[in-house]
Amino acid sequence: MYGLVNKAVEGLVRSKFGDDAWEKVRVKAGVPDEPFISMENYDDAVTYDLVGAACSVLNLSPEIVLEEFGKYWVLYTGEAGYGALMQGAGDTLPVFVKNLDAMHTRVKLSYPNLQPPSFRVTNESANAFTLHYHTHRAGLAPFVVGLLKGLASRFNVNMEIAYTRVEGEAPHDSFVIRWEPIS
Ligand code: HEM
Repeated sequence: MYGLVNKAVEGLVRSKFGDDAWEKVRVKAGVPDEPFISMENYDDAVTYDLVGAACSVLNLSPEIVLEEFGKYWVLYTGEAGYGALMQGAGDTLPVFVKNLDAMHTRVKLSYPNLQPPSFRVTNESANAFTLHYHTHRAGLAPFVVGLLKGLASRFNVNMEIAYTRVEGEAPHDSFVIRWEPIS
């Protein structure tokens, strides 16, 4: 994945656990002591190794680390020069999630080798919808849960998320989402 993602993992560890914790995570993951370059494409293994190292150094499960990373990513991209892109994707939660693929297509203009996920919304009603998440990468459902929680804060809504793995011809993760505005 692009360096932007690894930089955000670094930002999460440094901001929540401190610079010493980041140093331990970096060394454990076997990552050189050099800044990540946002626009450079790194092997996915670098990101997975960083998450694995964060789990062992911080004594947290992969689900917790990925979920925290998802929440952080929504804030981070909003502040790391992508605020306008995020804003342009929609003013409400359902509009925003329906625009995720279009938003990543725009991201691809700056990151040509991007391999983005794909999202589809079904069963939409006034305060609920089902979000289908397709990717060729494994194990990232807890990351999406964190992203959704980050979006719940962004749009000031309470959210319940029920996760199911869908097997079959097009295996993917599915999330039934119920939401209501915080009054
Ligand atoms: C403007 C804000 C955003 C930017 C700049 C951005 C950019 C990126 C980048 C660079 C990657 C790594 C993929 C690669 O390098 O091949 C990625 C992955 C991903 N993005 Fe976004 N993203 C943004 C917002 C979001 C939001 C709000 C969601 C919420 C659902 C999301 C969902 C994901 C997921 C789940 C992945 C993991 C890759 C996978 O599933 O295969 N992104 N994004």
